[in-house]
Amino acid sequence: MNKYINDNKDRFINELLDMLRIPSVSADLKFKEDVLRTAEFVKQRLAEAGADHVELYETAGNPVVYGEKIVDPSLPTVVVYGHYDVQPADPYELWNSPPFEPVIKDGKIYARGACDDKGQMYMHVKAFETMVQTGNLACNVKFMIEGEEEVGSTNLATFVKENKDRLTGDVILISDTGMLGNDTPSITTGLRGLSYVEVEVTGPNRDLHSGLYGGAVANPINILCQMIASLHDENNHITVPGFYDNVQELSQEERAEMARAPFSLDKYKQALELGDVHGEAGYVTMERNSIRPTLDVNGIWGGYTGEGAKTVIASKAYAKISMRLVPNQSSEEITGKFKRHFESIAPKSVKVVVKPHHGGEPVVTPTDSVAYQAASKAYEETFGVKPIPVRSGGSIPIVAMFKSELGLDSVLMGFGLDTDAIHSPNEHFGVFNFMKGIETIPLFYKHFAELKK
Ligand code: BES
Ligand code: MN
Ligand code: MN
Repeated sequence: MNKYINDNKDRFINELLDMLRIPSVSADLKFKEDVLRTAEFVKQRLAEAGADHVELYETAGNPVVYGEKIVDPSLPTVVVYGHYDVQPADPYELWNSPPFEPVIKDGKIYARGACDDKGQMYMHVKAFETMVQTGNLACNVKFMIEGEEEVGSTNLATFVKENKDRLTGDVILISDTGMLGNDTPSITTGLRGLSYVEVEVTGPNRDLHSGLYGGAVANPINILCQMIASLHDENNHITVPGFYDNVQELSQEERAEMARAPFSLDKYKQALELGDVHGEAGYVTMERNSIRPTLDVNGIWGGYTGEGAKTVIASKAYAKISMRLVPNQSSEEITGKFKRHFESIAPKSVKVVVKPHHGGEPVVTPTDSVAYQAASKAYEETFGVKPIPVRSGGSIPIVAMFKSELGLDSVLMGFGLDTDAIHSPNEHFGVFNFMKGIETIPLFYKHFAELKK
């Protein structure tokens, strides 16, 4: 297989670059046509790679690309999940080259979606092509590539519920996470859940002169800041009542095990140009960003932000707030608790509205499963070292549903790096990582089929 992969390396990369040229931003309806073109692109490439029954399944939102290859019903079936939508590319001016005009520089592919998730999803299409072309497809395979991951996968949830018969299999295989480093491979064994809300604080019924009214009426921006500041105490614990009720605490052994993963606080601070790190008392950085729940303001606005000064007390102030959840918190429950608390701390001088957005449940994947072992062996063969299990702080909202609706565990074989700048300007993906993924994935199929026997 390695010969086939090497012989076709340039074509594999060029096809990925072609896909990266289509701006499939799911958050912005302006890109709807491009999103649909990307779905068509994936459909076409899957069919060419050898998948059968390749189809676009319409949803209330963007279509799901489905395709399968059933080589032998007695073999195990791998269900591959990925997403072809990408995050918005703004702010464009911070990109060194345009986000939808991919370039390869110093061995890295620069473009929005290069790593998250077009590059990683496409590794599966090319690994599949390689297995088909060289007669090495050791498992049945079903592809489910969606176009709304970056906006919460609400319509995929419906698709999954309505297509349980079609989606039977033995494991879900996903490359939409990262690994610790190119010489320290890791397998992601957990994802945080998400509650996301938008809050609106209204003071007076219109914008007011800040001299004539200042000091006498509530300024919704001041109030919003106070309310937000009160959501953490002096130990950086979240003050929403009941927030930690169901949080699963890790044992000292589990925490000691986690601490064995290589991590340098100095390098971490240096990379982000931080004077110091920050977070919940009693936990270290690697715990704060993976096994602990959080509450963060993602955006805050109101009043006058144009050039110069305008003396005004705004009528309204807004913020978008995300809460990352860990087992066994529930997104719906936490959203409810937040809403009740936030409304209850509002002074009478303002009105507060809390609007829930999408959410997702946390997951932890088993490390004693056949699928995990198969993935571990695959990495060990291509990287020369055994991968480390690591719980990630990010979220992939549909993964918990694969378990609850389909009864399937997921294996998160990520090949990205934290430094790949996903969701940020200058997102990139190493050519090394792309090719390593294509090499490693077929070995997962091979070991999974063998271990399943
Ligand atoms: N692929 C990421 C999630 C991710 C990245 C997990 C790296 C672990 C390591 C995914 O596309 C993503 O960005 N998810 C969003 C959630 C979504 C509802 C917007 C997230 O985590 O913010
Ligand atoms: Mn992703
Ligand atoms: Mn993403």
